[in-house]
Amino acid sequence: MPEPLDAALTEVRALLLDPALTRAVAAGRRRGHRPSVVRAELRPVTLKSGPRLQISTSDGARPYTRNVAPGAEAGAAVDELLAEPFGNWHVETAGTTLQLRVTKSGEAQVHRAAANRPAREPGGHDRAKDWLLDPGDPLFAEIGGSAAKRRQVDAFLRALATTLPDDLTGPLRVVDLGCGNAYLTFAAYRYLAQRGLDVELVGVDVREDQRRRNTELAERLGWTHRVRFVAGTIADAVVEPAPDLVLALHACDTATDEALARAVRWDARWVLAAPCCHHDVAAQLRSRPAPSPYELLTRQGILRERFADVLTDALRAALLRLHGYRAEVVEFVDSAHTPRNLLIRARRTGGAPTADQRAEYRELIGQWGVTPRLETLLAAGSPDGS
Ligand SMILES: C[S@@+](CC[C@H](N)C(=O)[O-])C[C@H]1O[C@@H](n2cnc3c(N)ncnc32)[C@H](O)[C@@H]1O
Repeated sequence: MPEPLDAALTEVRALLLDPALTRAVAAGRRRGHRPSVVRAELRPVTLKSGPRLQISTSDGARPYTRNVAPGAEAGAAVDELLAEPFGNWHVETAGTTLQLRVTKSGEAQVHRAAANRPAREPGGHDRAKDWLLDPGDPLFAEIGGSAAKRRQVDAFLRALATTLPDDLTGPLRVVDLGCGNAYLTFAAYRYLAQRGLDVELVGVDVREDQRRRNTELAERLGWTHRVRFVAGTIADAVVEPAPDLVLALHACDTATDEALARAVRWDARWVLAAPCCHHDVAAQLRSRPAPSPYELLTRQGILRERFADVLTDALRAALLRLHGYRAEVVEFVDSAHTPRNLLIRARRTGGAPTADQRAEYRELIGQWGVTPRLETLLAAGSPDGS
């Protein structure tokens, strides 16, 4: 049954401004009219400055994306779009899907349905709006992955969202080191492209079979012009031009050190590395007595391993600080989703380290008699060997 258009658009407006909105698309045109853009897509995003409504429009040649604050700004932007003579609106919220088509006589043909995806994950408690990337995104049907992996990656991307400046523009070159089956690589591309960034992403993994598999996946997604894969070691793989952003999720043991060293050599602006197992410093601690009075920290195997984890990541962050980065270690996801839930997050400042920073690093490694792998890699990589 056709309905009055104004009333139907008022209903669309309420859904577009509802915090439960997951996605909306406007396209097509009404008889005898032409909208100023051929398509508009709206979705909620989380930026460093908080939640925003992202509006991407296309004039048929180029996309244009902006992020507006909830409230009056979002209301005004939505009103502008509703005033355009689009022929169709498709709106999804956590609970509802509404499709509106404008008939030839200028009325609204509206179809309303309960949302076509569950508001809760199977076995979980999360609603769609708790995710940075929409769990209903067709991408996930292509790339698969367990629920735990999806949660890890979503949380990793949230940490990325709060790292990049909101006003970031221009091309962004990204590398995912030790990408494995590229779950993070593809999800990161989706997230960054949705933010309206002109992204190029390279996934590096030592395994040639992963390169082939991931490249086929990129072909199926139609993303090969933006996402490509290289088989090689993190230390040596050819990635040109040098990336602005380095990602590494659970690169094994000292592969995380290789990733951090490579990021420093590339002069990357941002680094997000979630370490995996740590064996290097643990083995060094095992091979010599602990400095007094800290024997109790390392006498028992499990305590020594845990202490080695803490020491390794503290030294990694300290080394990044000595190489011109502001670095911190944070928990990026609840430990229920992975016990490897720490993230080393660094932003290049280019600042020289202070004498105190140098001294505290030297004192710590001197006391414990360890040489972190990252220190060795950084020394080997710098032209003067310092
Ligand atoms: C634990 S998996 C993690 C994969 C992916 N980042 C994820 O989180 O699902 C570690 C990956 O790093 C790769 N890898 C380990 N050491 C590497 C190195 N030195 N250079 C390149 N790849 C490496 C392995 O082949 C593996 O695919």
